[in-house]
Amino acid sequence: MADEIKQEAPKNFKVTIDNITIEVTPGTSILNAARQIGGDVTPPAMCYYSSLKGSGGKCRSCLVEVSAGSAADPRPMPKLVASCRTNVMDGMVIKNMTSDRVKDARAGVVEFLLLNHPLDCPVCDQAGECHLQDLGYEHGKEGTRYEFKRRTFEKEDIGPYIQLHMNRCILCYRCTFVADQITNQRVHGVLDRGDHSEISTYISKAIDNDFSGNMIDVCPVGALTDKTFRFKNRVWFTKPVDAHRDCDKCCGKVTLWNRGDDVLRVTSRKNEWGEVQQFDGKPGWICNECRFDKKHINDWTIEGPTQISRHSVISQGHYLGLQKPKETVAEVMGGRSPKLLMDIHDISDVNTVDLSALPGPATGANFEKKEQQ
Ligand code: SF4
Ligand code: FES
Repeated sequence: MADEIKQEAPKNFKVTIDNITIEVTPGTSILNAARQIGGDVTPPAMCYYSSLKGSGGKCRSCLVEVSAGSAADPRPMPKLVASCRTNVMDGMVIKNMTSDRVKDARAGVVEFLLLNHPLDCPVCDQAGECHLQDLGYEHGKEGTRYEFKRRTFEKEDIGPYIQLHMNRCILCYRCTFVADQITNQRVHGVLDRGDHSEISTYISKAIDNDFSGNMIDVCPVGALTDKTFRFKNRVWFTKPVDAHRDCDKCCGKVTLWNRGDDVLRVTSRKNEWGEVQQFDGKPGWICNECRFDKKHINDWTIEGPTQISRHSVISQGHYLGLQKPKETVAEVMGGRSPKLLMDIHDISDVNTVDLSALPGPATGANFEKKEQQ
């Protein structure tokens, strides 16, 4: 027993975010630590995408305040930091929604992202699942101080499947990371600097690749949309179901967006952060054949309805997995039905008074029982 080698478990870091303390493994970013808590504690992320290496650090929507850097050095960090690019330290104290500085900075980031982004949500196919729309509603202000003409770009045809709408691009770089890391070669990227920056015209060459459709899924706004679905339906009128098929190129696990038996759109499955789900530890990217060519319900084995957050506009009319609040009255009454608790007629003549016969407005005195009058 004495010579048994004791392996020390790696020490976790204690981190406090919005007054909630959790333990995370060293190397975890503040954003991912907050995601482990979930809810409003989690900063929004427009450019970070956990399955894409190198993503993050571009949009600043995930800014947080570090009010204590670590247990060893508890000084606050003077500037707000990008939570997707800053790792936690042991004893770090972070403020997200509890910081007025963060709220103010985030409203500024929204205003900045919307400088050139057209407010064409009523005609945009991304409406209902647009991260910028959500960010604007949750963290933005109703006005803008920008008075100049928004920048516009020539419409560019990038093939039969994907529509590029450069005016809506927020330059998050996610699509270039997809082309870089999932397709065979990247031939597009962000060209130029400042307000001349744009996704390069060579994006059309990246579209030939079998996995190029995943650029649509990662785009947080409506800059890259599915041409086979555009203007066919609003996403909240469709019924999403999980389905799979045997595919030799990809995992074959998808979400079908149906109207009746018509498959209007096929996408990869998303998790609660709007990112592609992991299967067997790998991101479940899907190939273009599954996405664009398998549009018949018989091509797929249906698994069941997709779980959509009931706060999402997509779940309008079909609340899946809805949990009704617990009936506690019957429980505390030893199983007796609540209606046995009180008979209104025992205490009031509320249903027997002819209101039209009263000389004026009814008062409590009109409903008192006769014997009490
Ligand atoms: S096209 Fe979409 S994914 Fe690509 S950089 Fe622009 S906003 Fe990001
Ligand atoms: S999500 Fe962190 S900077 Fe964009």
